[in-house]
Amino acid sequence: MSIPAHGGTLVDRAVQGAQAQQLLEEYKGALRVPVSYRVLSDAYLIGVGALSPLEGFMGKEDYQSVVEKMHLATGLVFAIPVTLTVPLKQYQQVVPGDEVLLTDAAGTVYAIMAVQEKFERDIEREAVLVYRTDDRNHPGVAKLFEEGPYVLAGPIRYFLDRFQPEFPEHTLTPAETRAAFQKRGWKTIVAFQTRNPMHRAHEYLTKCALEIVDGLLIHPLVGETKSDDIPAAVRMECYQALIRHYYPQDRVMLSVLPAAMRYAGPREAIFHAILRKNYGCTHFIVGRDHAGVGNYYGTYDAQRIFDEVDPEQLQITPLMFEHAFWCTVTGGMATTKTSPSTPEQRIFLSGTKVRQLLREGKSLPPEFTRPEVAQILQRWAQGQ
Ligand code: ADX
Repeated sequence: MSIPAHGGTLVDRAVQGAQAQQLLEEYKGALRVPVSYRVLSDAYLIGVGALSPLEGFMGKEDYQSVVEKMHLATGLVFAIPVTLTVPLKQYQQVVPGDEVLLTDAAGTVYAIMAVQEKFERDIEREAVLVYRTDDRNHPGVAKLFEEGPYVLAGPIRYFLDRFQPEFPEHTLTPAETRAAFQKRGWKTIVAFQTRNPMHRAHEYLTKCALEIVDGLLIHPLVGETKSDDIPAAVRMECYQALIRHYYPQDRVMLSVLPAAMRYAGPREAIFHAILRKNYGCTHFIVGRDHAGVGNYYGTYDAQRIFDEVDPEQLQITPLMFEHAFWCTVTGGMATTKTSPSTPEQRIFLSGTKVRQLLREGKSLPPEFTRPEVAQILQRWAQGQ
């Protein structure tokens, strides 16, 4: 039996085809509320059940409970608030009880929301408790302030036909990944979250994990990221080259997560694990400074936070890895758990360092990056 969705049931708030047409016709006169790209990506995730048990954008009780206690009001662990913020003008216009159409800036309708309540969120408190800093230089905190305090809440229905994925062949809903795992006969599946091209350390973690489970889901986040992260299209080319040359084809699947990156470090590690559980994964890789940015979080904070949640509730098993490096003594990837090297005998790799080498037009050493991946990255960097 496959792992249940978070909260027990995989939410399905997506409408398609004739049913969607009928709803759009019925609601064509409803108030239109333009929302951000970020809100639309969260609406997609709610629609397809990736954020189960959420059926819509959070109301005040859930919001406060998630911020303060890292659990929904029901007591179920949930690490990051999922809210729909609007400018003051829209906030004043909408009344609880309204059914509104959520659109992009061009006016395309993506979802209907039954507005149940509206409230003002406490941005500073959310920043300190969820992001562990109120520094506005933190990209996640900056986003909170940019979005503002005005929140509309309620269940949604999402028009799945309107969603135009950047990578259609690799965009699967949780129901689809679950079906794909079953078809392959995989009972245990480890998910790998990344927002970077995969380097040797990433490859090492995923392969260590593959030794103990049936299959690997490489599940890069391809939604909104900060501007100096490498574009998703370039990363996808890298993942495909790496898989083609260095992985057993029948034990790995590549699919994307169209979610926005929050850079919330520890809280986001839990959030990422819950999402992957909804996609049907039983294990989740958490390495060093997962979902971190700058120096806001300690190297292993995103692992320690798992001690604060009930594993029975979370169900997906985190697989924690130490900081991996190239060991010049053994001539392979390792961590301090497996290598006899002294610190001087270790070459540490990081996405930031790779970006720096690329900017400087330098080549990427094989201890950092497989040559097939390095080639793609260098070609991209030269075109910049
Ligand atoms: S993240 O924002 O998606 O976490 P990144 O793509 O760099 O960033 O990392 C993907 C996963 O690999 C995370 O779990 C991260 O902790 C882990 N990771 C990245 N580099 C290393 C490394 N050198 N050693 C151990 N874990 C790592």
